[in-house]
Amino acid sequence: MINNIIHKRNQRKGLFVSLPGFLYTQAKYGELRYQSAKRILYIGVGHGLDVIVNSKLNTDGIYIGVDPYIATDGNDDLDYEQLIQSTGENVTIHRLKIEDYLSKHKNSSEKFDLIVITDCLHHIFWTSKFIDRNYSKKDKIINLFKNILEIATPDAKLIIGEASRYNLRRYWQLLKGFKTVDYYSKQSHKAWINLLKKAGWKIDDVKPYIPIKFSFLENKIFNKIMFFLTHEYYIYCRK
Ligand SMILES: C[S@@+](CC[C@H](N)C(=O)[O-])C[C@H]1O[C@@H](n2cnc3c(N)ncnc32)[C@H](O)[C@@H]1O
Repeated sequence: MINNIIHKRNQRKGLFVSLPGFLYTQAKYGELRYQSAKRILYIGVGHGLDVIVNSKLNTDGIYIGVDPYIATDGNDDLDYEQLIQSTGENVTIHRLKIEDYLSKHKNSSEKFDLIVITDCLHHIFWTSKFIDRNYSKKDKIINLFKNILEIATPDAKLIIGEASRYNLRRYWQLLKGFKTVDYYSKQSHKAWINLLKKAGWKIDDVKPYIPIKFSFLENKIFNKIMFFLTHEYYIYCRK
């Protein structure tokens, strides 16, 4: 079933996602690292392949996804329909902006012990400025991170997956002479970390995404270099 969903999405959006590649990313960088989590929140859940897979692997988990489904940000009505048709009773999707979800639920006693935000923050705060320097909405970002902290349990973990500003794909676009992705709107892991710390989150780790084919090369130095080459990184935080 998951293969089928991935195949349809690839066809519709011209992507090349494979199930083994997806599972590798989930196990190595994503929420499969925290299998004991009971209440899990996905901010900007989008197509929700991660919720679909994880909610089937961990049937004791309670999964909440939040997303307004903004087509220009990558996911539209069809992604929403497909997601709600593919999930079971342990998944609830709120078609809302995270800011609205948080203000509705800020006094709720039901907290989350894992929060996942992948490829979403730079859509909420879309700018070519450096978010931790001269960006006018810097305080809004800190505020969002503080509000997320408030709905987290004392042992909660937060995973942020983001696209990087400088990477091989960007240089390749420059060489080809046309842009498919606007890397000016992405930020460095250091910028997000700066603001996360200001909001009170503690940083456990940060990792560059290393494709499965190159994972055998991994070591401290290789990983440092990969921060300048890879198009994605992951930040791991705790309360
Ligand atoms: C590029 S998609 C990422 C989807 C998915 N998390 C992934 O990793 O593939 C970005 C998503 O962020 C959502 N989004 C944009 N603004 C948002 C907001 N204020 N609150 C929650 N989600 C938002 C968009 O609708 C879109 O589905």
